[in-house]
Amino acid sequence: MAKKTQTVVNAEEKQVKATVKQKENKPHLPKVTVKKKKSVVFIGSESAPFIATGGLADVMGSLPKAIVANGNYDVSCFIPMYSQIKQEYREKFEFVTSFYVNLAWRKQYCGVFKYVYEGVNYFFIDNEYYFAREGKIYGHYDDGERFAFFSKACLDAISALNINPDIVNCNDWQTAPAIIYLKGMYYGDYKFKKIKTVFTIHNIEYQGWYGMNCYEDLFGFDGSLYSYIEFKDCINLMKAAIEMSDKVSTVSPTYAEEIKNSFYAHGLEDIIAKNSYKLCGILNGIDYDYYNPSTDTHIIKNYSADDVSGKAECKLALQKLLGLPEKSDVPIVSMITRLVSHKGVDLVKQVIEQFMTEDVQFVVLGTGDASYEDYFKYVAGLYPNKCKAVIAFNQDLSRKIYAGSDIFLMPSKMEPCGLSQMIASRYGTVSVVRETGGLNDSIKAYYDGQGNGFTFRDYNPYDMLYVLRSAVNTYKNSKVWANVVKNAMTSDFSWDYQAKKYEDLYEN
Ligand code: GLC
Repeated sequence: MAKKTQTVVNAEEKQVKATVKQKENKPHLPKVTVKKKKSVVFIGSESAPFIATGGLADVMGSLPKAIVANGNYDVSCFIPMYSQIKQEYREKFEFVTSFYVNLAWRKQYCGVFKYVYEGVNYFFIDNEYYFAREGKIYGHYDDGERFAFFSKACLDAISALNINPDIVNCNDWQTAPAIIYLKGMYYGDYKFKKIKTVFTIHNIEYQGWYGMNCYEDLFGFDGSLYSYIEFKDCINLMKAAIEMSDKVSTVSPTYAEEIKNSFYAHGLEDIIAKNSYKLCGILNGIDYDYYNPSTDTHIIKNYSADDVSGKAECKLALQKLLGLPEKSDVPIVSMITRLVSHKGVDLVKQVIEQFMTEDVQFVVLGTGDASYEDYFKYVAGLYPNKCKAVIAFNQDLSRKIYAGSDIFLMPSKMEPCGLSQMIASRYGTVSVVRETGGLNDSIKAYYDGQGNGFTFRDYNPYDMLYVLRSAVNTYKNSKVWANVVKNAMTSDFSWDYQAKKYEDLYEN
């Protein structure tokens, strides 16, 4: 019995000693605090890889993923469930809920589908009447109603699914109504009270102008919001979102300054100036996994900044594909662009025939205004051994052009950010750009070993031609050119740093 007691005592002693030891050790143990993640919801009218017509889709497809990677936020993204979204994606979507959305006197069905892609919760707003349309995703007679429905449906889905975001980040005019409804009409609801809003302008040119007759009948806006929504006796959705959101961002620091000026602001300069205290410019990044010359399967030979030799093979393959003479020493100048006026196509039109008399090759890929399409086909007809115009939207060919060209021309009249110059740089194709918007923030003129491209300031065809020629002359000096290529390829256009700037904005 005594023995047993002794054993018990020993055991107790051991326990006490262990506890003391544990206590002694405790200060050395790392403190584990479970930090609650915040939540951000992005609302936009398109997102890669599901549906893409422009740069907005690239941003919606890459910024959320970069924010997830930083680990501080749960990220959700809402886009419409267009019938144009490919079946290979649609079949993975999971139905999560449905309800009816009140839009003025209308009661419209809304289904919500979910797909977790690269750590981001993508939600798709389904209504076949609005989003199962033939042809293009924009440009329908009732776009105002379609995107007002979408905007409202997103808020109703946020509530129905109990997402409880800290931040809602809307993008461009199509999702401006979400800010108006949230700040002006849902504000009394406890689920929306604490939400802060960011409105991101990707292009101030498209503002969502509507007649006042749509105010109640179509948008169902509350009369008390009139002074925010009215602009020049019309409804201006972008203007209202700028006025009503907590913060406004745009896609480059230079553009944030430019839109205070009437040349760039398309009538909104005073509204921007008035709200400049809450405006900031954050340069976009590009998806470094998606655009990567060392893994890209669209190109014939992979290469990297450390070993760029594969690029020469890509160039010959491109010349072969397009039916151009396979000459490694003739520079290929390329453009991948929408063929519309603000991309600076007029400058090119004015001097391209002069430029074609030199020992160069010129490739253009894009679609747009018929007059520009016809013009480039005409020039290609005049110089069949030097110029190719592919009037198409072709992802695969675009990669081959990024990889196979030497010089990338982007002389935009206005460019909020521009992503093509970043993609070209990553593929070692040196940009020639006008110093505007994001082009000004991403491409620095090469001088004395520094700089990643060639730039000009005034919107003038001869300034462009001069700089284009100096790029071609630099190309002829292979040692210097290798240096420019290296600078272009090692410029950091990833989201790593830029996504943190969005988080700082949210923290504010
Ligand atoms: C718009 C702008 C473009 C920008 C893109 C993504 O398409 O015109 O400059 O890169 O949005 O923000």
